[in-house]
Amino acid sequence: MRLVLATANPDKAREIADALSAFDLVPRPPDVPDVDETADTLEGNARLKAQAVCSATGEPAVADDTGLEVEALGGRPGVYSSRYSGPNATYADNVAKLLRELDGVDNRRARFRTVALVRFPDGRDVMAEGVVDGRIASEARGDEGFGYDPVFVPDDGDGRTFGEMTLSEKQQVSHRGRAFRALAEALWTFTRP
Ligand code: IMP
Repeated sequence: MRLVLATANPDKAREIADALSAFDLVPRPPDVPDVDETADTLEGNARLKAQAVCSATGEPAVADDTGLEVEALGGRPGVYSSRYSGPNATYADNVAKLLRELDGVDNRRARFRTVALVRFPDGRDVMAEGVVDGRIASEARGDEGFGYDPVFVPDDGDGRTFGEMTLSEKQQVSHRGRAFRALAEALWTFTRP
């Protein structure tokens, strides 16, 4: 099945392509702009992104939206993870703000949540979710991955942060790996005659 990838973020695209290797993934055409993530849920933002690319191309489109939910921060930054330290925040700005906010805080529990969604031209959606529980490290470690990876230590691991893992190690336990493997399953079921 051919799917147009809504994200132009190479970090996310690499992981999605890895998890959806059985599908014919094509990049978003350069003339289709980024969509403003104006919804207040991950599902809402994933749908906005997939819908926009599906209606611009007339083909099924796949999108995801991810949030980091930190227990001691009441679930923040959550759906606002990319803009945590401001509208033009870099990955490093966001990590620095997170470590500052958790300075001296004992409860480091956190969770990544990804909603993955395919929108079809006939208006139907297929959606799946992936979650990974873990904790926020006291300092950034590792150069792999992206975003908050250098400070996220998954429970299903050996104490390394995602930033210290290879792509395939991260994919096995990560929110995005789980969400897109579940999405692939759901798509096979959905499209089976
Ligand atoms: P998005 O809205 O799905 O692009 O993700 C929101 C923000 O969460 C991104 O800007 C990243 O900083 C962060 N993020 C998303 N996925 C990951 C991940 O797999 N690891 C670390 N950070 C991530």
